[in-house]
Amino acid sequence: MNIRENAVVSTPPETLPASWYHDRETYDRERNAIFRKHWTLIAREDQLTTPGAYVADDIADLPVFVIRGKEGELRGYHNVCRHRAGPLVKEGAGRCSTLRCRYHGWLYDIEGALRRAPGLELGRDLDPAKFGLFPVRVETWNGLVFGCLDGEAPPLHDWLGDIVGIASRFPSNADMTYKGEVLESGDANWKNYSDNSCEGYHVGFVHKSLGKTIGKEEIDIRPHENGQFVGFDVTYIASEADSTRQGKGFWIYKFPGLLLHFAEYSFNCERVKPVGPGAVKLVRWYWCDDDKAAALGVTAEDAMASGKVVMGEDLGICEDVQRNLSAGIYQTGRMAPTEEVGTIYFQKLVREALEG
Ligand code: FES
Ligand SMILES: [Fe+2]
Repeated sequence: MNIRENAVVSTPPETLPASWYHDRETYDRERNAIFRKHWTLIAREDQLTTPGAYVADDIADLPVFVIRGKEGELRGYHNVCRHRAGPLVKEGAGRCSTLRCRYHGWLYDIEGALRRAPGLELGRDLDPAKFGLFPVRVETWNGLVFGCLDGEAPPLHDWLGDIVGIASRFPSNADMTYKGEVLESGDANWKNYSDNSCEGYHVGFVHKSLGKTIGKEEIDIRPHENGQFVGFDVTYIASEADSTRQGKGFWIYKFPGLLLHFAEYSFNCERVKPVGPGAVKLVRWYWCDDDKAAALGVTAEDAMASGKVVMGEDLGICEDVQRNLSAGIYQTGRMAPTEEVGTIYFQKLVREALEG
């Protein structure tokens, strides 16, 4: 037997099929099998401080809104009138004392109960108890508001799993100041962006400045089953290339589309929002402890600018990959088991959700 015959050749994990990154049928399956079953970051509590304050967005392409009730409670509803499916509030943040449908004016209170339907007498023609707004589950954590369309999904804290404990090692949002948002959009499937976000393999090639602050020995990347996320436990290498990254950090990619970045003086979270088979929107919110930042010689604006550069670099390479995934020459590839442990885990979760 020669050495060649004796060699053990293992087969590295196969990537998801290229077609899953651009066909409409997969996208539709994902909406039902993934995004409608999980919690989605939809607002910040600081946007919803007074009764009637609302934020409207969508979850898995379904228009929804969250609103602060009269007793201070947060409620969520589908943004759909019970008459002929008109919209109640416009997308974005606002405030109202009642909810009036923008189509024919049916009126609901901010607790979602039908109060008036012009041309119909409530109690005689319509039982208002049967025509309230469709509810959506809403829960909060660390100043963030999440919505969920699935009544069977676990409570938010269970869904977050080990993330809650990891967050407790870093400053809470309640002790920091909200600084603003960075919005990006790209021509890439959401999984393409997620694949990229779950590994550090590309960092030295794609991120010239960020790459100088991260060494292989200083980053521990591993999947966490309790919460279904990929954790990047990092100790930054001080570098003039990017002074915003110092000391300890922890990045998280939470399945299916939530990024969390904990640092010693700041926090940011990012919603990865699919808006079609080949398009994604990114919404990232920043908090900072200005005193701690000043002690480190940085500002929130520096951190946001650095983050924007990295997001742009990631989206740029993902758009190039998207073109290649859609071109038809590539079907599947193989991944490096140690370097891409996070992406392998992420793709396993996608496969399980779509194939059972
Ligand atoms: S659809 Fe809302 S009032 Fe007609
Ligand atoms: Fe990256």
